[in-house]
Amino acid sequence: MYIGIIAVAVLAVALGGVAFADGSGDPAAVKNENGRYLDKDGNPTYKVTPDGTVDWYTYSGYRRYHSECHVCHGPDGEGSTYAPGLKDTLKTMDYGEFLSVVAVGRKNITSSRESVMPALGENPNVACYMDDLFVYLRARANEAVGRVRPSKHEAKPEAARQWEDSCIGKN
Ligand code: HEC
Repeated sequence: MYIGIIAVAVLAVALGGVAFADGSGDPAAVKNENGRYLDKDGNPTYKVTPDGTVDWYTYSGYRRYHSECHVCHGPDGEGSTYAPGLKDTLKTMDYGEFLSVVAVGRKNITSSRESVMPALGENPNVACYMDDLFVYLRARANEAVGRVRPSKHEAKPEAARQWEDSCIGKN
């Protein structure tokens, strides 16, 4: 029976990769709420059109990632000798767990070294852009965005502007 399931999965991939899924499920955007895309489970997701135009949040996440996370996690979510590649992390980690690890941090003490993810929930440059970071890394996990700065993006939605003003103001 397992062999059958594997065979079907392999066939699905061979037929054009219809079976996309990551730690949060199927990343296909089914809803657009003022420029913010959601998957069928209501998780934030990316939208990339065939000409390479990305949604605003994916573009914003690219910029935030490279200012706040890159130093430890390496360029483009690829990972470094110090911290894991987040493009691989999001293949299995879901949205809720991502929010929690980034906000409260994590510490693993191994026999060889101490590995610390700082708690960034109080840093407005991170806390106000959690979804942006998530959708950019989700796009990387699914290879929807390559190892490049997205060259074309949707205009910044008014909703993003309002959220930013109220969030930065609160922090
Ligand atoms: C000072 C270095 C540093 C910075 C800056 C940093 N991280 Fe981390 N992060 C780490 C380390 C080290 C780990 C591994 C922790 C462990 O071993 O539990 C980690 C782990 C994680 C994990 C869990 C990875 C996994 O595979 O389980 C996530 C998610 C994460 N970081 C997201 C982020 C995001 C998003 C940013 C930027 C907003 C960021 N980190 C900034 C060092 C950092």
